[in-house]
Amino acid sequence: MKIVIPKERRTHEARVAATPDTIKKLIGLGASVTVEAGAGAGASISDEAYTDAGAEISANAGDMLKTADVVLKVQRPLRSGEGDVDEVGSLKKGAVLICIANPFNDRDTVDAVAKAGVTLFAMEFMPRITRAQSMDVLSSQSNLAGYKSVLDAAEHYGRVFPMMMTAAGTVAPARVMIMGVGVAGLQAIATAKRLGAIVSATDVRAATKEQVESLGGKFIMVEPDDDDSGETEGGYAKEMSEDYKKRQAELIAETIKSQDIVITTALIPGRAAPLLISEDMVASMKAGSVIVDLAVEQGGNVAGSKAGEVVKIGGVSIVGHYNVPSRLATDASALYSKNLLNFMELLVDGEEKALAIDWEDEIVKGTLMTKDGNVVHETLQ
Ligand code: NAI
Repeated sequence: MKIVIPKERRTHEARVAATPDTIKKLIGLGASVTVEAGAGAGASISDEAYTDAGAEISANAGDMLKTADVVLKVQRPLRSGEGDVDEVGSLKKGAVLICIANPFNDRDTVDAVAKAGVTLFAMEFMPRITRAQSMDVLSSQSNLAGYKSVLDAAEHYGRVFPMMMTAAGTVAPARVMIMGVGVAGLQAIATAKRLGAIVSATDVRAATKEQVESLGGKFIMVEPDDDDSGETEGGYAKEMSEDYKKRQAELIAETIKSQDIVITTALIPGRAAPLLISEDMVASMKAGSVIVDLAVEQGGNVAGSKAGEVVKIGGVSIVGHYNVPSRLATDASALYSKNLLNFMELLVDGEEKALAIDWEDEIVKGTLMTKDGNVVHETLQ
């Protein structure tokens, strides 16, 4: 079983899909591992560190991919014409590819992978069940994004977070509001608290109240329609009623005026992110305030936010970085690689030291996108 780790070629991507640590364990599963030269550079991992862990280094991505039984990647592969290597075209029939596939935004790549006879697993489709927690890339990466969002806000905020009582006078603490209290939002609350801010948070899911309060934040929420929990059976946010949205907008408008920093993380799976902060709300904020829109690549929670830019509207900075986990590439790679290793352990028979995929397993079914030349996932039919 030959596992290969190509260098990530898509823009704004500094992560890598294996670390020396996970490579040792993949070799322990009976695999030989080849890493493309320079693949770890963005995550501060040298080729030498990979060789010391037992991997081979290859300077030729095309040749390397042709021999792979399993390819571990962060981003979906490049198709012909998308870059210097036709990654999809280089894969052999029957190979297994594991990555973040992004099929709703790039269906063509999934179709091309299917046509090449490659078995594709999309890590972001990992079912949110207890057994799969150690393979959950959305959680491992969102947690880091939530932390980094607070530091990004601090960078653009011309004031401090904690209250400071000095001989020269007292500095008031920053007021930070987090909108959307999933994995990223919870880490943002914890990080802002650690820096000494006064933190409040809001979400449509009533269950988040207790979580916010346990981290020392103040929970702000409109009364739901008819005791609606605001969430689906899978624990994700629902699209709320027009009346709820109106009441929520009024509450946000009232609260946001007194905030120094707002971090938005609100997502609804399979849909564009909900717009939570309007132009008027931005205009109502004090000069020097900062908004970080972590949902910017899914359409954005903030009017005027732009992917890849820091926009200044009036006196307010709106931060919309691409791929926030990649901005912490070393830790993000370590956690992502560990998620992949845990998934590989599910796919490999430890005795036989070979792939032995149980196609009926809930985790396998949940993440399987393509098989035997077809796109098979139910959401892509
Ligand atoms: P997400 O990234 O899909 O969304 C972020 C947050 O935005 C969510 O809390 C959502 O409720 C909120 N949101 C959506 N629309 C909103 C609106 N209009 N206004 C305010 N907030 C809004 O969420 P994430 O981080 O993926 O977590 C979703 C759920 O999955 C949570 O219940 C989380 O605890 C759960 N989870 C379960 C895991 C497991 O059991 N293995 C692992 C990780 C998360």
